[in-house]
Amino acid sequence: ATTRYEVESAPAECSGVVASNHSGYSGSGFCDTPNAVSSAVQFTVNMPVAGTATLGIRYANGTTANRPADVSVNGSVVQPGFGFEGTGAWNAWATKSLPVQLNAGTNTVRLAATTAGGLANIDYLDV
Ligand code: GCU
Repeated sequence: ATTRYEVESAPAECSGVVASNHSGYSGSGFCDTPNAVSSAVQFTVNMPVAGTATLGIRYANGTTANRPADVSVNGSVVQPGFGFEGTGAWNAWATKSLPVQLNAGTNTVRLAATTAGGLANIDYLDV
C-alpha cells in the first residue's frame, strides 16, 4: 500500500511557503522554497518493516533548467543531485521515483537543493 505524505501537512516541513497559485496540486497546496542552494523540504515517513521502498516525489518545474536536489534518508545523502527536470509549466506536475532503504518505524526523507534555482515546487511524497 502507498502512503501519501502531503508537504503542507505536519510533520512534513517546507522551508519556504505553502502556496496554491498553480493548479493541479494534491491536498491544500505545495511547497515553494526560496531560489537558493540548500532550500529544503523534509518528510517523516513511517514503515512497518525495514527494507527497500520507492519514493514517489510529485513536483512541478516551470523552467527549462533542472532543479536537482540531494536526497537524504535519516540524515545521510543517498542520492546526490537527483534531477527535477522542467515539466513545461508550473501547473504541469510530474513524479520522480527513487528506491531507497528505510528503517522500521520513523524515517526522515529530505530534499535539499544543490543549485541556485532552489527546489522545484514540491507537492507530496508517496511511499
Ligand atoms: C515562479 C512560480 C513559483 C516558483 C518560482 C520559482 O515564481 O510562480 O511557483 O516557485 O517561479 O522559480 O521557483
